[in-house]
Amino acid sequence: MRKLAFVLGGVAAGGMAALLASSEAGPQAQQQAVAVADSVRAPVIADSGSLRGPRQPIFFRHDIHSGQYKIQCQYCHYSVAVSPEPGIPSVQTCMGCHLVIGGTDSTHQAEIRKLRQAWNEKQPIEWVRIHYLPRHAHFPHQRHIKALGPNACATCHGEVQRMPQVFKVNEVDRMGFCVTCHMERKVSRDCSVCHY
Ligand code: HEC
Ligand code: HEC
Ligand code: HEC
Ligand code: HEC
Ligand code: HEC
Repeated sequence: MRKLAFVLGGVAAGGMAALLASSEAGPQAQQQAVAVADSVRAPVIADSGSLRGPRQPIFFRHDIHSGQYKIQCQYCHYSVAVSPEPGIPSVQTCMGCHLVIGGTDSTHQAEIRKLRQAWNEKQPIEWVRIHYLPRHAHFPHQRHIKALGPNACATCHGEVQRMPQVFKVNEVDRMGFCVTCHMERKVSRDCSVCHY
């Protein structure tokens, strides 16, 4: 029990750091951030069959991790601000918490058992990818995070921290979506910027 409190303490501290880091955004944005954080309680979901988005090999919930427990996006998508690829967390990253955290209800426990089994068997988890571009186009995450800010994820991906299962909100993988914003923001629309 004490160990659990220690891990959750770490998560809470991360959440605090997030609020401190965003203090430059001004008091209003800060209050909003606090209000959202305080109001989020992820619902219990008995039947996941009707959720939007593809079913994943483990029912991993962003609304619990990032909504309720306020774990920052970059804790798991560790390279989003420095590389074209945001990064998908390894099983080891998950186990940093789930060696200790086993889940509070039976649905959670069953899903966390799958995770621990993957860890014991040294198997990567085959997550189903949701957003992707064809090979002839490329999207540098780091350039966009630098220009639009670390919380810009929602501009393209929607409010992931409220999603029990990730689904596509915008046509982020259509050229029109890219070009519309590049026009608004006076960013280059040279074909060679996005195409190899
Ligand atoms: C505890 C780790 C963790 C945290 C924190 C986390 N994610 Fe994720 N994220 C994952 C994993 C694992 C997947 C792949 C499984 C899935 O799609 O649910 C994923 C998938 C995604 C996807 C879909 C990727 C695709 O296939 O196209 C998006 C978008 C995303 N995350 C955005 C976010 C945003 C935005 C935040 C912060 C609000 C966030 N994530 C926080 C672990 C995390
Ligand atoms: C920083 C700590 C932390 C990390 C890292 C983390 N989790 Fe969790 N996870 C939690 C907490 C806290 C809960 C809530 C436990 C409960 O109340 O049942 C949870 C719950 C869960 C659950 C049950 C609820 C749900 O989300 O469906 C699953 C499954 C799960 N985590 C999978 C993962 C996977 C897979 C990863 C890696 C991609 C991961 N976790 C990374 C802290 C973490
Ligand atoms: C300007 C739009 C935009 C923004 C802002 C953005 N993304 Fe993405 N994201 C995309 C596109 C487009 C893809 C598909 C890229 C590809 O296929 O190369 C993607 C893919 C992803 C993936 C899947 C990567 C994989 O390897 O499976 C994750 C995870 C993700 N984004 C997380 C984030 C997070 C976290 C943030 C905020 C810190 C963010 N994104 C901000 C447009 C965006
Ligand atoms: C919400 C607005 C927005 C959307 C949507 C968007 N971009 Fe961008 N993009 C920007 C901004 C702002 C910059 C300028 C970053 C900088 O100055 O470094 C940028 C820069 C780029 C660059 C680097 C340009 C250079 O001069 O080297 C590429 C490549 C790019 N975007 C591709 C894409 C692709 C592909 C998509 C669609 C999948 C997309 N963008 C969607 C806002 C956006
Ligand atoms: C800001 C990024 C961006 C710029 C600038 C851009 N494209 Fe694209 N383009 C994309 C993306 C992303 C796709 C893949 C998604 C799609 O098919 O809509 C794409 C797809 C395409 C396709 C394939 C469409 C299909 O139906 O398969 C063609 C052809 C194309 N672009 C031509 C161009 C030409 C010519 C220019 C210069 C006038 C250009 N693009 C500029 C991002 C861009």
